[in-house]
Amino acid sequence: MKKAFLLLLPLIMFSCGGEKFSITLTSPKEAVSVQLYENSESQLAYTMNFQGNPVLLESTLGIELREYGLLGKEMELLRVDSARNTRPWNPLWGEDGIVIDDHKAYTFYFRSKKNDLLINVHFKLFADGIGFKYEFPPQEGVDELIIDDEFSQFKLTGDHTAWWIPADYDSYEHLYKTTKVSEIDSSLVDSSLLAASTIMERHAVNTPLTMQTASGLHISIHEASLTNYSEMTLRVEDDKRTLTSSLVPSQLNGWKAKVNAPFSTPWRTVQVAEKAGGLIESKLIVNLNEPNKLENTDWIKPGKYIGIWWGMHIDEYTWGSGDKHGATTQRTKQYMDFAAKHGFDGVLVEGWNKGWDGDWIANSELFSFTESYPDFDIEAVTSYGEKVGVKLIGHHETSGGITNYEAQMEDGFALYNKLGVSQIKTGYVAHGQSLKVRDDNNVLRYEYTDSQEVVNHFIKNVTTAAKYQLSINTHESVKDTGLRRTYPNWISRESARGQEYNSGWAAPNPPNHIPMLAFTRMLAGPMDFTPGIFNFDYVRKNDGGIEWGKGEVMRPQTTLAKQLAQYVVLYSPIQMAADLPRNYENNLPAFQFIKDVPTDWSHSKALQGEVGEYIVMARKASKHKSFSGNDWYVGAITNEEPRELSLPLTFLEEGQQYEAQFYLDGEKAHWKANPYAMNIEKKVVTSADVLSLKLAPSGGGAIRFKLLSQ
Ligand code: NOJ
Ligand code: CA
Repeated sequence: MKKAFLLLLPLIMFSCGGEKFSITLTSPKEAVSVQLYENSESQLAYTMNFQGNPVLLESTLGIELREYGLLGKEMELLRVDSARNTRPWNPLWGEDGIVIDDHKAYTFYFRSKKNDLLINVHFKLFADGIGFKYEFPPQEGVDELIIDDEFSQFKLTGDHTAWWIPADYDSYEHLYKTTKVSEIDSSLVDSSLLAASTIMERHAVNTPLTMQTASGLHISIHEASLTNYSEMTLRVEDDKRTLTSSLVPSQLNGWKAKVNAPFSTPWRTVQVAEKAGGLIESKLIVNLNEPNKLENTDWIKPGKYIGIWWGMHIDEYTWGSGDKHGATTQRTKQYMDFAAKHGFDGVLVEGWNKGWDGDWIANSELFSFTESYPDFDIEAVTSYGEKVGVKLIGHHETSGGITNYEAQMEDGFALYNKLGVSQIKTGYVAHGQSLKVRDDNNVLRYEYTDSQEVVNHFIKNVTTAAKYQLSINTHESVKDTGLRRTYPNWISRESARGQEYNSGWAAPNPPNHIPMLAFTRMLAGPMDFTPGIFNFDYVRKNDGGIEWGKGEVMRPQTTLAKQLAQYVVLYSPIQMAADLPRNYENNLPAFQFIKDVPTDWSHSKALQGEVGEYIVMARKASKHKSFSGNDWYVGAITNEEPRELSLPLTFLEEGQQYEAQFYLDGEKAHWKANPYAMNIEKKVVTSADVLSLKLAPSGGGAIRFKLLSQ
C-alpha cells in the first residue's frame, strides 16, 4: 500500500485527524472557502462558505464507472497541489474587453482503496464561486471508461426560491417557473411544451439553476466546458435540500458517457452574489473554459443582421417551394439593399435549399446542404452581396438528422466558404425532439440533444466550420457552458424560448420572460433571441384557418421600447433585427436605435434588477468596427409591473458630456392596450445626473449616451 504523501502548502489549512483528512481551501480575497474532507462514512465530501456563511452543507462527491464501481468512498489522498493564478485575457468578442481570471487552484490526487484506480479531483476557487471536476489521469491498464453515473451533490442550507426549467433532455424551450426548491416538479410545466419522447426525472431541472436564499443571497449552479460528456441536470433528492448531478443518458447504450483515459469531466460550478446582477457580471464560467484553440480568428466578426425569417414564422412566406417561397433571389437582393442602406452586415436566408417541402420536421434525411431551389440563385445573391457590402448568412436546418448532416457538412461548408459566407445558423427542430442518428449498420436510432454523442456532434460542427472560416449560431442546441472562449467561432446559440414563440405558432413569451432569461439562461452565454419586432398587428392562422390561442394575445407581450431594450439586456455578439424591412421603414426614428446599438462591448454592468421582475444593464461600446468605443448604452426592462426607477449615471466618465438619446415607454404605454407608445427624446447629461425612468407594464427603455466632448 502506498504511503500517503501530503504536501503541506501555505495556502492550505491542513488537519489530519487519524486516518481521515480535512482540508480548507480559500479563494482570493478569502471570500469563498471550501472544506474538503472524508466524512464519518469514509465518503469524500465538501462544504462551501461565502463571506463566512454556509452556502452548501455536507455534499458528497462520487462517480460511478462500469468496471470500477462507485468511486468516492475509501479514497486514499496521495498528494495535494495548489497554485494561485491571476491571468487577464482578452476575449475576441464579449461583454467586457478584459477578463481577469483570478483563482486558487487545488488538485487532489486520490487512489481508490477498492481497486487502485487513480482519480484526481480539481477545485478552483474564485471570489464569487467555485468549480470542481473529476479527472482520470493516464495510468497503466486503464483506457476505455464507461461512466454510468455521477453523484456530485449540492446540499442547500434551506428551501430556497428557485427559477427553473425542467430537465428535458432535448429542449430548453420552456417557460421558467418560480417555486421553492422543494416544489420543483415537471408536472407543473405545460405538457404541450414537453418534448414527446423525453422521459424526464420528475423532480429535476436543467442548469443554470438560479436560486435565492431567505437572507437574499443569489446562487447559480451550472457547469463549464461541456465537451465529450453528457449534460448535467440536477435532481432534487427526497430531503428537498440536496441537488444531485444527474447525467443525460445515451438512449441506445444506456450509459451516461464513454471516454478514454486520460479524461476530465466538465466543471461543476456554484456562483454566489449578494445582488442578482452579480451573477450576470460573473466571469466564472468562461474562466473555467480552456483558452482559444483556433489558430487564426481574424475572420470571426460580431455584427448585426436581418433575414428572410420572420415572414415564414408569421406565415407570410414559406420555407418550402411554391408561390409563397420566401428565399427567392429577388427578395434576397431586396433585403441586401435594405441591409446595405441601414448598415447591417448580413442577410440570413432560410428555406433556400432542397428538403423543406412537405413535413420538413419529419423529413430530416431529405435535406440537401448544397442544392438550392431553382428560384434561389446562390451565386447571384452572394455576388450581389459583395457588390453592396452585405454578406449572405447561411442556414443549415437539419430537423435533427445528425447523420444526414454530418455526411454533407464539409460540402455545405465548402460551398458557403467559396461564396464568401462567414456565418451559418444551424437548426435541430425535430418531432418528438430527439435527434436521428444512423448507427454503423445504417439503422436509424434516436439520441437526446443533451447526450454525449450529440454534444460531440455540436463540437464537430463548430470545429469543422472553423476550418472553412465559418462561425456557427446553433439553434435547438445543448445549453452553453462557456465554450465560446475555446471556440470563438461558436458565435451564439438559442437554447431557450426566443422571439419565434411570439409569432403565433405557440403560446407567446409572457411579460416576465426577458427579466427571467437575464438571470437564468443568459448566465450560460450569448443568446440569439432575435429582438426587434416593430409590428404587433399580425394574426397568424393555423392550417384550419382558425385563430390560435383563444383569449391569448398572440404577439410579443411587450411594448415597442422593450423590444429595443432587449438589444442591451440580452447579450449576443450577433444581433438580428427580426422584423420585416417594411415595418422598419414605417418607423425609422425607433429603428435608429437598432442601427446604432453595438454588439461588442468593453464594459458591462448589471446596474439593478431582481430575477423575473426587472433588469437594468449598462454597456460601453467596444472599438470594434463601426462602434465608437466611447458611447454607453442602457437597456431597462420590466415584467407585468410598471415601475419608476432612479438611475444614477455614475457609470459615465466623470467630467464628460453625453447626449442621452432616449427611447422610452410613452405616458400611457401598456404591452396589451398600447404597445407602440414611445417617446424619443434627447438631452445633455453628465455622470452627476440621476435619471428617473418610467417603465410601463411589460415595458422598457433603451438609451444611447453619445459622448459629446473628449
Ligand atoms: C428553429 C429556429 O429557432 C428558427 O429560428 C428557425 O426559423 C426554424 N428552426 C427553421 O429552421
Ligand atoms: Ca428554436
